Amino acid sequence: MSNIFDEIQKGDDSFGKSIFKDKKPLDHRFLPDKLVHREEQIRQIAKYWIDALNGVTPSNVTLYGKTGTGKTAASKFAREQLIDAARNKRVQVKVEYIRCTDYTTEYQVIAQLCQQLGRDVPNRGWTKGEIVNTFRDIFKTNVYGSKLILIVILDEIDILLDKDGDGILYTLTRTDNVSVLSISNYLDFKNLIKSRVTSSLNDKEIVFPPYGADQLSDILFERAQLAFNDDVLDSDVIPLCSAMAAKEEGDARYALDLLKNAGELAFDDDSDKVTSAHVRMAKDRIEHNKVTEIIQTLPLQQQRLLEAILNLSKQGEEITSGKLYDEYEMVSKKDAVTYRRIFDFINELELLGIISTNTISRGRGKGRTNIIKLQCDENLLETTLFTI
Ligand SMILES: Nc1ncnc2c1ncn2[C@@H]1O[C@H](COP(=O)(O)OP(=O)(O)OP(=O)(O)O)[C@@H](O)[C@H]1O
Ligand SMILES: [Mg+2]
Repeated sequence: MSNIFDEIQKGDDSFGKSIFKDKKPLDHRFLPDKLVHREEQIRQIAKYWIDALNGVTPSNVTLYGKTGTGKTAASKFAREQLIDAARNKRVQVKVEYIRCTDYTTEYQVIAQLCQQLGRDVPNRGWTKGEIVNTFRDIFKTNVYGSKLILIVILDEIDILLDKDGDGILYTLTRTDNVSVLSISNYLDFKNLIKSRVTSSLNDKEIVFPPYGADQLSDILFERAQLAFNDDVLDSDVIPLCSAMAAKEEGDARYALDLLKNAGELAFDDDSDKVTSAHVRMAKDRIEHNKVTEIIQTLPLQQQRLLEAILNLSKQGEEITSGKLYDEYEMVSKKDAVTYRRIFDFINELELLGIISTNTISRGRGKGRTNIIKLQCDENLLETTLFTI
C-alpha cells in the first residue's frame, strides 16, 4: 500500500513537486560547518582562547552585535573547534554554554554549571555561599586529575543586567581557571554593570557588524543547497530575501526565516518552484505572526494604550503624549494607570517595534513634545486587539 507521507515527501503525485530536501538547515538552531563572513571574528575568539590549550586561563571576551549577526553561531562554532583541539592535551578544557534567558539568577547559573560539570547540586535551597563554594571546589580538588580550565559562554547576558547579572559576572571572573565569553546586543552594555565588576571583567571586545545584502546572499546560498531540491528556487529568490533582510539591520535569522517561509508557502501552493511572490507573501506572514504574537501577550493596560494609539491614528491625528493620555483614559475608564506609568509603556512598545517616538522641539520657550507613530498595520492591529 502506498503511504501518504512518502507521496508527499517525494512529491510524485498530485501534491506537487517536493520543494525541500531537508528542512533542518533552515532552522535557527542549525549550526553549519562553515560560517561565511565570520572567519575574522572566529579567528579573534580563537586567538584569545588558545591560551587554554597551554594551561593558561584565557582573557574574558565580549561579543557585541545586533540581532542575527551570528554571535551565538560563531561562539558555538569556536567552542566545537576548541574542544576538538583540546583532545589529547594534558590540560582539560571545558566550554559550557548558558543561555541567560533560561537561567536568570546567579544561583541558577552557578547550579547549572555545577551540574554540567558533573556535580550533584539542587536547583534551589542552598545558600549562595554554598553553591559558589561547591563550584569553586571543582577547580581546587582537581577531579579531572589534570588542570581544568573552564570557559563559560553567557549568551543573551543583557537579560541579567537588571537582575543580578553583576553578581554572576563577579563570581565567575573571581574564580581561578574560569574565563567568560559574554554575548550582548548593546555596545554600551558595560555602562550597566558596576565598576568593580567591569574591572575584574577586563574583557577583550569583538564586534559583529550587520551583514550586507551580498553577505546574506552567500549565507542563504550555502543553506539553500542543503535545504532545497535542485532548481526549485527562482533565481531572484535569494537576492530578494537578502535585500529585505539587509533592510532589517542585516539580520541573518530574518533572511533564513524568509527563505524557509517562502519554501513552505510554495509547498502549500503545490507549486514546483519558489518564486519572488512567495518571498513577498512570506514577509507578510512573518510580520503578521510577529505582531499578533506580541500584541496577544501584552498586559491589558498596554493593550488599552495601543487601542488609544490606534483610535488617534485612524483619525489622522498627530499623537502627542498628552492627547494619548486623554484617549487612553477614555478607553480604559476607571482602571487607568498614571500618566507617568504611560511613559514606561510607551518605551516598552517602542522596544517591541510596534510604535516609534520622535521628540520635536516646538520652538524657543515652548519645550519639547513627544510624537508617537504606529509602526504596524492599522487593520492588523485592530483585528488582533479585538479578537483576543
Ligand atoms: N555567517 C553565517 N553563516 C551561516 N549562517 C549564519 C551566519 N551568521 C548567522 N547565521 C545563522 O543565522 C541565524 C542567526 O544567527 P545567530 O543566532 O548566531 O545570531 P545572534 O547574533 O546570536 O543574534 P541574537 O543577538 O538575536 O541572539 C542562525 O541560524 C545562524 O546559524
Ligand atoms: Mg544569539
